[in-house]
Amino acid sequence: MTESEPSIGVLDSGVGGLSVLLELRKILPHHAFHYVADSAWCPYGSKSPEQIRQRTQAVAKHLMERGASTIIVACNSATIHAIAALRENHPQIDFIGLEPALKPASKLTQNGTIAVLATSATLAGDKFLRLVDKWITPAGHTLITQDCPKFVELVEQGITQGAEVEAAIAHYLQPIVEQNPDTLVLGCTHYPFLSESIRAYIPNHIRILDTGAAVAQHTANKLSQRPPAQDLTKLWSAQTTVHSTGDIALHNTLIPKLCVAHQLRVQSISI
Ligand code: DGL
Repeated sequence: MTESEPSIGVLDSGVGGLSVLLELRKILPHHAFHYVADSAWCPYGSKSPEQIRQRTQAVAKHLMERGASTIIVACNSATIHAIAALRENHPQIDFIGLEPALKPASKLTQNGTIAVLATSATLAGDKFLRLVDKWITPAGHTLITQDCPKFVELVEQGITQGAEVEAAIAHYLQPIVEQNPDTLVLGCTHYPFLSESIRAYIPNHIRILDTGAAVAQHTANKLSQRPPAQDLTKLWSAQTTVHSTGDIALHNTLIPKLCVAHQLRVQSISI
């Protein structure tokens, strides 16, 4: 396959969006994916909206040069701050974003108390505040928000269980559990890699929501509506490549560990 044949692009500030890539590969096993882990610039969650837009723009350009005609912005922080600019600058590309699952949470909650874990960039974004105005405030629900930068740091090092993870979970979640939410939204794509440990910590009745599977389904629906630009059978032997701006030695061991049983090619890039 040449680099310019159509593929699906996926991007995140680092390895967190691999949680979304895994859902995409489950549902679209014959598609070629190019994933950019922008770990050299991670975290996006503490960057300014302008910095997030600049990085996302550079990464999207890299993916377009590799033939991506659909790009999944597998990062809540980038969706909140950069997807509008991406769509405006590149109307020919289908950008699919991820945002914290406040809509499903508002429908599923029984006791009206919802907690959302996300980055500080996401929680401060206008797009997020509009979601709150639309789904939380009118329903009279209570929303607890918490940014969890330590979770991103741990996942970026490939640490998804053990004492450090448990300590970070207790630190962020104990005050939340005390407020008795029945729904917990994982509003950052790094966090699902810790969901087993989060599940073990919080009471059983708290439902955990994350958007990876729903976005994968939405992507599959959109692709099936679109007439194939080329013979898609050409892509069936297609491969997934992870392009890393970060520490390639670390990523060569960490990425296969996070994506057990998936054959991925990992390569270093500088953008
Ligand atoms: N995984 C990203 C998100 O969904 C960002 C994490 C970070 O870089 O702070 O927001």
